[in-house]
Amino acid sequence: MKSRSKCRKPTSLRCNAGSRYSTSVVIFCLLGCLFLLNLYSYTHYKDRNGGESQLRLSRHPQFRELQEVEEENIQIPPPRGKRSPRAAKRRPKKKTTLIDEFLDENSQLRHVFFPGHKRAIDPLQTSANESYYYYPGRIWLDTDGNPIQAHGGGILYDKNSRTYYWYGEYKDGPTYQVHNKGAARVDIIGVGCYSSKDLWTWTHEGIVLAAEETNETHDLHKSNVLERPKVIYNERTGKYVMWMHIDDANYTKAAVGVAISDRPDGPYDYLGSQRPHGCESRDMTVFKDDDGVAYLIYSSEDNSELHIGPLTVDYLNVTSVMRRILVGQHREAPALFKHQGTYYMITSGCTGWAPNEALAHAAESILGPWETIGNPCIGGNKVFRLTTFFAQSTFVLPLPGFPGSFIFMADRWNPADLRESRYVWLPLIVAGPVDQPLEYSFEFPLWSRVSIYWHRKWRLPHGWNGFI
Ligand code: GAL
Repeated sequence: MKSRSKCRKPTSLRCNAGSRYSTSVVIFCLLGCLFLLNLYSYTHYKDRNGGESQLRLSRHPQFRELQEVEEENIQIPPPRGKRSPRAAKRRPKKKTTLIDEFLDENSQLRHVFFPGHKRAIDPLQTSANESYYYYPGRIWLDTDGNPIQAHGGGILYDKNSRTYYWYGEYKDGPTYQVHNKGAARVDIIGVGCYSSKDLWTWTHEGIVLAAEETNETHDLHKSNVLERPKVIYNERTGKYVMWMHIDDANYTKAAVGVAISDRPDGPYDYLGSQRPHGCESRDMTVFKDDDGVAYLIYSSEDNSELHIGPLTVDYLNVTSVMRRILVGQHREAPALFKHQGTYYMITSGCTGWAPNEALAHAAESILGPWETIGNPCIGGNKVFRLTTFFAQSTFVLPLPGFPGSFIFMADRWNPADLRESRYVWLPLIVAGPVDQPLEYSFEFPLWSRVSIYWHRKWRLPHGWNGFI
């Protein structure tokens, strides 16, 4: 026993020295592997994103203009009415924030968020040097001189007619509440449709899917809810297919509806509604991939997660395939797009008509996993960035001919008078490294930063001719 214990000591010493040595070797090997992996993923990342050409694109003067960081310094006016010093002492006044001002219908800053009709964008009356400029938040007139009514909307580029079609909620009716705690609403009027060749001058094509006036059991009865309509074209069937959020006034039905037409400008025949995959569906969108497969993406489980699944080949139904994504993240207003093989999505938080912080997400495969890559908003000021420039995402439109550049389309809701809600369109650029490393590894992410740049006024790059 003794002799055994004697010889065990030096052995164990040797073992320790050996294990220390091998631990360092293992650590060195691991670090080496990690370095090589990073190097590989970085070159891969550069290649996937067009490497130098992507960098060159962002150095192009036209793009530099879009990517200029524009600050906003809005002074909050002093509170109206004098308060006695004693009263002020009794109840210390809460500091008014820019969000309070935005939500206050009587705010002295109302004109900053909702400029009046005098400052409307009227493409037919605009001087040459002001033409093609977007002014986020201003009233935007169609070619008849009426404010465009296409809220919660999306755009289809129709290759057949080389025309853009903008579909959205036609909300030109009185705003009211069904009951005290209910959300402000406008009765369904229908889906407004506008056509354009240049994405700036829009002609009203009419209400392409209208409310049902008399039959109270119909989904489209005016007392119900029709929101976020989106249209995709099916090459196989030659049909234009519209998907939309269908609900009752209390948002308990939580369904999606489908309508179909032979023409982009309708009229659309309503086919009915369903709870997709047997699940609640509220804010939603559809996305058509390069291979022609289309997907439905919707907020579900009390808006706590999003669901995504492919549609059938005719785009008229969902299939049995569905993935739960961004589980527990409480996101809505999804707007999906793709750049160089990677899928991106912008979502909002869930605060009804009130604005909140947008987040960008990315995925290698459309069915996930999806990674949240942060707030895409740049410029304005902190409150602007935390409120998505006082707006909520609805759609992201690729700019043909300018890979990596998109138009971010959002709604600046006016719950006091929903028909007076405004459009916030801003340049969205996918380029450069993301702010944070991947949550689950030390690797360089395989996707790029998504940036939405605030501009008080901006226009599309010169040379953009509108067509694919
Ligand atoms: C928002 C949603 C809008 C609308 C609104 C009603 O959260 O994005 O589309 O449904 O709630 O309060």
